[in-house]
Amino acid sequence: MIIAIVPGSFDPPTNGHLDVVERCAALFDEVVVGVVGNPSKVPLFTAKERVALLGECTAQWSNVRAVAFEGLLVDFAREIGATTVVKGLRAVTDFEFEIQMSQMNRHLSGDVVSLFVATKPEYGYLSSSLVKEVARLGGSVEGLVPDSVAAALKERLK
Ligand code: PNS
Repeated sequence: MIIAIVPGSFDPPTNGHLDVVERCAALFDEVVVGVVGNPSKVPLFTAKERVALLGECTAQWSNVRAVAFEGLLVDFAREIGATTVVKGLRAVTDFEFEIQMSQMNRHLSGDVVSLFVATKPEYGYLSSSLVKEVARLGGSVEGLVPDSVAAALKERLK
């Protein structure tokens, strides 16, 4: 049984994230969306809220669950028996940082393998930060995030 982690801040989850999760749901026995509890920037949504949003958005895939974690990703992976970490790549600009993180994770634990999934081209420009900025400034986030996330953004930013 192969358990994969799709880690991230998910502040908030976007359709780009869900595209990666959907691919993983078809490839792995179990997929854990790992929500970092202490992201580098102060989050708009608490870890509990991000887990709840992801729970709603991923309910159609029975082998996917969202879990918050703190500390090192490799320790979380060991804790839940995951051997694979999957990240989405939007463009070559993502690659530099992602390869650095994956090599650090490999240094920390030889048990975890990092895999990269190319995101859908139509989501190549999409990021949680831009979604928040657009929503904050009154723009439409339709088609960029699930409806439940759009509603949560509206409520949080009103
Ligand atoms: O969505 P993001 O912000 O690109 O996700 C980054 C994340 C959460 C995957 C990364 O910051 C992470 O793995 N954090 C856990 C702490 C850790 O293990 N750091 C050392 C490995 S580079």
